[in-house]
Order: sequence, then C-alpha cells, then structure tokens
Amino acid sequence: TAKRKLIIAVDGHSSCGKSTVAKDLAKKINYTYIDSGAMYRVVTLFAMRHNLINGEKLDENKLAHLINDIHISFSYNDELKRHETFMNGELVEDEIRSLEVSNNVSLIATIKFVREKMVALQRKLSEAGAVIMDGRDIGTVVFPNADLKIFMTADVEVRAIRRYKELKEKGDDISLDAIRENVKKRDFIDENRDESPLKKADDAIVLNNSHMTKEEQLDWIVARMAEVE
Ligand code: DC
Repeated sequence: TAKRKLIIAVDGHSSCGKSTVAKDLAKKINYTYIDSGAMYRVVTLFAMRHNLINGEKLDENKLAHLINDIHISFSYNDELKRHETFMNGELVEDEIRSLEVSNNVSLIATIKFVREKMVALQRKLSEAGAVIMDGRDIGTVVFPNADLKIFMTADVEVRAIRRYKELKEKGDDISLDAIRENVKKRDFIDENRDESPLKKADDAIVLNNSHMTKEEQLDWIVARMAEVE
C-alpha cells in the first residue's frame, strides 16, 4: 500500500544533532529536508551586513523595512553532497554557521515579524508534503498538526563537545568553555523568549540521543513513522 506523505517536525535544543539526523532520514526515505534554523541565520547575516546589530541591540525598524529584500532559498549540491543555503542568490552556507552569526541569531529569532515571515516560508515550502523540518517551533507553531513530532535533546556537555569538534574541523579556533557558554545561553534564550519559545509539544515524543549512534536514532524515528503511516 502507498504510504502517506508525512510532515515530520523535529524540534529541540541547539547542537543536539537535529539537522544531521533530519538530513540523513530525509535521504533514506526520500523526503525533503528543510532547515528552519538556516532561515533565521540568513536574516541574522543580513542584519549584520547592514550594521543593524550593535552589541545586544538590534535596529528593528530598519530590519522591518528591509526584511522583504531578503530572499532565502535552498538547494542540494550533488557534488559536495550537502544542502546549501542562499541569500538573494549568494551561497552563504558556511558564513551562516560562523560563531558570529551563532552569537547573534537568538536575538533575531526573538523578533515577531521575522518569525511570521519565516513561518510563512516554511509552510509554503512544505505544501507538497513528504517533508522533514527541524527547528524550535515546528511542532508547536508551524505545523501543530504534523503527523509526527519529535523533540530531540542531549546533555549540555555532550552537545558542547560535539559542536567543539565540528568547529575545530572547520578550523575555527575556539575554546570548549566558550562553546559550552554559547550552548547554554542559546538554550536559555530559546526557552525563555516571548515569541514561540522552545517547548515540547504535548504530543511530541522525546528522543534524548546523548548515548545513541546516528543509526540508532534513524531506526528509532523510522519505527515511530511506521506507527503513524
Ligand atoms: O538550529 P539552529 O542552531 O541553526 O538555529 C539557529 C537559531 O535560530 C537558534 O538560536 C534558534 C533559532 N530558531 C528558531 O527560533 N526557530 C526555529 N524554527 C529554528 C531556529
């Protein structure tokens, strides 16, 4: 029998491997992967390039005027075997993952008009179904009727070490302490903001992957999918 084209929402803390698992799963079951965090990162990069962020302060008025000038798109690079993010046609995949953007993105993600714009785009990109989207508010706000909601998390230390290795590999010279602080700070801001705070949806299933391999996580999600298909 034909399987339904599900919408799978994956929410959870920063750096707990949501996107890795979501990407691998999408590939395995031939679904579209959508990285909602990348969208907030693009808006952040845009705001930084236009000097709209000074310390912890954002020029909201200017961003409100400019937000419709930001066009976000994604494509899969077959050669590099990676998903890539574009800002007005410019490849920004690496730049949006930098520590500078990471340090400013929580601020941008608190802004209501930014969130509304991103949510509209997320829904539009998912119209055909067979989508797996990761983020913070996918199961609570973007798709309250998602077919499957997963809330992923991992212990802070585990997440800090994973992120540290990732950035080291890219050549970023940054201490584990600084990364641990960044992870904790982002958790705090994500969970305590007024607009769409990170929160487990009542009907989401928790996946704590601190001590799970990638394969174990994929098998776990595929088993959960079978229950709703
Ligand atoms: O998943 P990520 O680390 O790339 O997300 C970047 C930031 O964007 C993070 O601080 C939380 C925020 N975010 C959000 O508020 N809502 C989403 N759906 C996805 C990300």
